[in-house]
Amino acid sequence: RQMYHYGNFSQNFLWGVSSSAYQIEGAWREDGKGLSIWDKFTHTPGKISEHDTGDVACNSYNKMEDDIAALKKVKVSHYRFSISWPRILPDGTTKYINQAGLNYYKKLLDSLIAANIEPQVTLYHWDLPQALQDVGGWENETIIERFKEYADVLFENLGPKVKLWITFNEPFVITVLGHVQGAHAPGLNDRPDTLPYIVGHNIIKSHAEAWHVYNDKYRASQGGLVSITVNSDWAEPRNPYKQEDYEAARNVFYLGWWAHPIFNGDYSPLVKKSVLDQSLAGGLTKSRLPEFTPEEIKRINGTYDYFGLNHYCSVLAFPVDFGTTQHFEADSDRTWLETGSVWLRMTPFGLRRLLKFIKDEYRNPPIIITENGVSENGPVDLNDVHRKYYYEKYINQVLKAYLLDDVNIIGYTAWSLLDNLEWGVGYTERFGLFYVNRTDPDLPRTPKASVSFYSSIISCNGFPDPQAMSFFKSNLVISPQRKQKKKQAHFYLPHLVWVTLRPKLSRS
Ligand code: GAL
Repeated sequence: RQMYHYGNFSQNFLWGVSSSAYQIEGAWREDGKGLSIWDKFTHTPGKISEHDTGDVACNSYNKMEDDIAALKKVKVSHYRFSISWPRILPDGTTKYINQAGLNYYKKLLDSLIAANIEPQVTLYHWDLPQALQDVGGWENETIIERFKEYADVLFENLGPKVKLWITFNEPFVITVLGHVQGAHAPGLNDRPDTLPYIVGHNIIKSHAEAWHVYNDKYRASQGGLVSITVNSDWAEPRNPYKQEDYEAARNVFYLGWWAHPIFNGDYSPLVKKSVLDQSLAGGLTKSRLPEFTPEEIKRINGTYDYFGLNHYCSVLAFPVDFGTTQHFEADSDRTWLETGSVWLRMTPFGLRRLLKFIKDEYRNPPIIITENGVSENGPVDLNDVHRKYYYEKYINQVLKAYLLDDVNIIGYTAWSLLDNLEWGVGYTERFGLFYVNRTDPDLPRTPKASVSFYSSIISCNGFPDPQAMSFFKSNLVISPQRKQKKKQAHFYLPHLVWVTLRPKLSRS
């Protein structure tokens, strides 16, 4: 759990950083953009710390060159960003397509490609057009058709430049923070018993329809990959010697709700049983969890090309008696550890366990970690040692999952490129590799110490063994007699170290 592991990731491993439209773009009313639920939410008094809004954010809409320069400095191979739905379809429907919005994203894609950076594009990172919320948002099942049409517009117009797509970012957070706790837009908290499950049902179906549009109309010509990003903590039994705590940890349902229908078919038996039991305990005659029809199960199952995972921390699990409460929280037996950033505490070991769990549960899919990172708040200190520590430890655990557990991990993405609008807490919590000075109207980006640190992990493609490096250095003097010896030597080294050093070997 604590040991350091040396070695490298696969040769084509994707190394990236991540962002999202509402958190960085600003330009909330420029060039014909419509309003989103986050525009409305942040402009509602009392919703966001310090009354912050995304009106200007990092002004990435007007500072594309600065962002590309920052990406080049980190030396990433891919950049994950999201599209603002109301920037393309101001009222959420295809009645009017805003060409200026499309042009902005085309220019961004062209600039990335020119910089040799592979784009990874998220269709929905939480900024629903307000006009769609006005007719029920994710609760109204007509949203499935709206999302499908929106996806079609993006695939048609931007698809020739994109190879990696994500339909939804973190359906769990959309559902629970937006429709149970009301801490995120649209801020609903009046029906915690039923609303999350209705919203979740429509999101899963919307995802599947978007995947099918791509599969049927665009895959042959564009050859990209489409998937969903789910978030999951790792749940560790609070007391490893207590059977009840083990069971509580297994009862945490992040993935069974979202990944199970898409990767295995239907909600997991655990999710179905938990919601049913709690519904019956409350005197209901049936489960509050909606059912998929057999045709729907079939249509949703398999709608993925890789597994997108966001992960930040672990939680301790132990049983909690919710009695007869009819509330989402009572269905998942989940208890959070206190964290530095309220919800986040550094627990690198959990990431390796989670990756292994995904491998076993979902039949070894290719996995891209689409977010992982840490925040600070309070006074600015560009020497962000805590972030260097976090990345070093977490990425090392990813390496262990790859080399020791044979997890099919194909990419890693740090959250986030810039300090940005951290949703409900505004600009007070800073996850960026780059500091954005908000007292300067130009919003300059300044690298924190973690930039060169993360960049060197990228350049090394992991954590090369210093001993292996010196072995090879001392063996670079070439003589025919030693060739055989060297061949044997690399055989005993971790095979990926050999991949990294291969250019030197073949020169010999
Ligand atoms: C994720 C979210 C990101 C970012 C991050 C850090 O849940 O997708 O947008 O805010 O958390 O809190």
